[in-house]
This record gives sequence, structure tokens and C-alpha cells, in this order.
Amino acid sequence: MSDQEVPNTAPDVAPDGDADTADRSDLMEKVVGLCKRRGFIFQSAEIYGGFRSTYDYGPLGVNLLRNVKNAWWEAMVQCRDDVVGLDASILSPPAVWEASGHLSNFSDPLVDCMKCHQRWREDKIEGVCPSCGSTEFTEPRAFNLMFKTHAGPIEDEGAVAYLRPETAQGMFINFANVLQTTRKKPPFGIAQVGKSFRNEITPQNFVFRTREFEQMEMEYFVPPAEAQTWFEYWLAERFNWYLRLGIPESEIRLRHHEASELAHYAAGVADVEFLFPWGWDELEGIANRSDFDLKAHGEASGEKLEYYDQTANERYVPHVIEPAAGATRTMMAFLLSAYSEDEVGGESRTLLKLHPKLAPYQVGVLPLSKKETLEPLARSVLAMLQPHFMCDYDTTQSIGKRYRRQDEVGTPWCVTIDFDSLEDGAVTVRDRDTTEQVRIPIDGLLAELRRRMDEA
Ligand code: GAP
Repeated sequence: MSDQEVPNTAPDVAPDGDADTADRSDLMEKVVGLCKRRGFIFQSAEIYGGFRSTYDYGPLGVNLLRNVKNAWWEAMVQCRDDVVGLDASILSPPAVWEASGHLSNFSDPLVDCMKCHQRWREDKIEGVCPSCGSTEFTEPRAFNLMFKTHAGPIEDEGAVAYLRPETAQGMFINFANVLQTTRKKPPFGIAQVGKSFRNEITPQNFVFRTREFEQMEMEYFVPPAEAQTWFEYWLAERFNWYLRLGIPESEIRLRHHEASELAHYAAGVADVEFLFPWGWDELEGIANRSDFDLKAHGEASGEKLEYYDQTANERYVPHVIEPAAGATRTMMAFLLSAYSEDEVGGESRTLLKLHPKLAPYQVGVLPLSKKETLEPLARSVLAMLQPHFMCDYDTTQSIGKRYRRQDEVGTPWCVTIDFDSLEDGAVTVRDRDTTEQVRIPIDGLLAELRRRMDEA
């Protein structure tokens, strides 16, 4: 695919076969089209022909992505007293990646097709060149996925730095800092949301696999004997988070890794998988990482990364349970899951049935007419709601068209101010999914919308 082309929607992983993907075959195209048309996601550097595998999040996409990250932060940090946050640097020295194993192991096996000379990931091509069908390839070579750069003005070996390929290491190398400053004791977690970079060989499927993406990761440090219990606890917590935010049970599952799939240090891994249009694929990995990371950084740095349990007079290296999710990938799953089409009054409509917490706008404020008489009241309703909800103020075209536009971007509630509102001090609140309309006094509007939000 050339850099100029629109996002590739072809599968880069084999479907499972058990998934009923037939009715979802054109879903990807529809969602990619909607994302561009309505300003969720643009191809990066589009005016220069585009830059492959990088995307810009537009006015609606940035709201949705932020809401996904906020919903994660709320569940993982805000509503818990055993998890604290961190925002570590993206640029990091080789020592971190030497100790973590990324410099020697974080690679994909690459082969070149002998006929058309295209380069592929060996594990993704099933023995046949996807471009020309040839079955002859060079021997596989390991290709490290980290982006390497130089910090400072001199580009020599001493100045080498890496863009982090995961946020996780930031939590391990700050373990002692956090322990000292927060006085937490195991079990406790450190959470981080932020950008990660991987020089993926086959970035594909829109924002599913990109070279620059966002992760939401938490490292939960536990006494060694409790690791399996906490691993199971986090499997359930994370699975339920997606259900609570509206992904139906038919589109999500947990897949436990076979022993042969596990890294040598991992005592157990399970993926939360989503039914993408090409089949089941990973949304999040939850791993029991044993004491590997703290031990590795402890040995390499010479710092003691341990916990001293005063009551038991015992010193130990905590084990780590890690729920690691992709924010951009999760946002895509929410979009795919929410996309629907139905008919209202004999007319077809497109709607995103996004959970109100995730919707780019929670409320559309729509004065029925552009006439100046309605504007002051409509603007006062907008000003009342804005500190509490992300609102869109729309005065263009007919009210029916405006409802459709809000449905298409997932706005759960529209508030219409009409000429009666000037008399009775009430507005019409329309529900996206049912299209039901009710009249509500303006002085009770905020409380009513908050009630609906809480109940969603
Ligand atoms: N610290 C563990 C770790 O990074 P991972 O399975 O490599 O584990 C965690 O990544 C999550 O990050 C994945 O489940 C996925 O959602 C997201 N992710 C990984 N690589 C990605 C990429 N190239 N593009 C988008 N999301 C990605």
C-alpha cells in the first residue's frame, strides 16, 4: 500500500472461523467513512499525500478518545484507594530496554519475498506472499520494533535513546519512588495512560495496529503468594469494564494463552478479545508477570526494588499483575460496536449507540429556528449545561436533519428550544436510541440530564 492510499481495511490476522463475520463485512468501511466524514479520525499529513499508519484525531475523535481514557482512569485510579497514577517520559535511555529485555527480544521475524521483494512478518503470511503468491522467501531475520533516536546534538552511540514501546517500564523504574512517596504497600498499583511507539511491520486495520498509539496500563504489585488470586480478580474487573461501557457479551471474550504462548517469565496471560470485522482479536492483555520486571531492573540498576513488610519482618520482591489495554484500539472497538442503522418514520438513519460517558457530545443544544428571539434563551441553556457536559450548539438546517447528525455521532440527548419555551420555560429533550421526546422545565433540566447520565 502506498502512503497516499486511504487506511487499509484488509485483515492482517486470520479470522477464527467461528465468528459470524458475514453481516459485519462492510462495517469497517462504514465506520472508517464515518470517522473521516464527521471528523473523528483523519489520515495524518493528508494534504501531503498521507503518512502511512499515523492518524490525527479530529474534533469528535479527540473527545471520544479522551472519554475512553477518562473512563479507564476513573475505574482504575479515581474510584480506588490502592492505585495511584504516573506520567513517565516517552524518551528513555538504552539501560531501561536492556534490562527489560526489549533490546534483545522485542522483535518480529521478517522475510523478503524472493520474487517481488516485498518484506513481510513471517508469522502473518501463512507461507504465501500476500502480494504475488510466491512461496519462496529469505531466511527470517529479527527486526527490533523500537524507534531509536539520539538525544542531544551529537549522534553517537552515547546519545542513543528510544521512544518507549510500552508505558509499563515507567511504572517499574519508578516503583521505589512511588513506594516512598505514597507509603502504599502491596497489593497496590501504578497506572499510566500515554503514547507508545512501535515500528510495526504490518500496521493495518485502521487504528487497530499503528506505529504511534496510546496505551492504558496498570502494574499491580502483590505479595508473591497472592499473585494468582489477583490475576483472576483483574481478569474479571477488566472484562466487566467493557461490558459496563456498552460492549455486548456476544462481542467480547476472554482467551487464556496456552503454555506455549507464554513468555518465560509469565505465569499466566489472558487477552480480552473483541469481535472485530475480521474475527476475534486482542483488545487488552492481562498478565501475571511474576517478579521478572522488578528483579531485572533491580539487578541492572543496583537499586533494591523490594518491599519490606514490617509486621512479618520480611523483605520480598513483589509479583506483578498487569492489565495492559490500547486506548486507540479500544476506541475503535467502541465505534464498531456502537455503529447501527435503523428506520425512523420510514427514513433510514445511522446512529452510534455509544455509552453517554463515551459520546463525543453528551448534549446537542438546538434552537428550533435561527430567529434572534430564540438565541438568548438557547445560549443561556447552553451556558448552564457546558460546565457539566460536552455540548454541541447547532443552528443549521431543519431540526430533523440536526437530530440525524447528532444520532450519527452518538449524542445521547438533544435539547430543543422552541417558541413555546419563551412562554412556558420548558424545552424538549429527545433520546437518541428511542427518539422519545419529553418536555422538561429548564430549571429541572440539568438535574434530569445528570440523572440520566448516572443511570446510563
Ligand atoms: N506492557 C505490555 C504490553 O505492552 P501488549 O500486548 O504489547 O502488552 C498492550 O500491548 C495493548 O496495547 C494491546 O492489547 C493493544 O490494545 C495495544 N497495542 C499494542 N500494540 C499496538 C499497536 N501497534 N497499535 C495499537 N495498539 C496497540
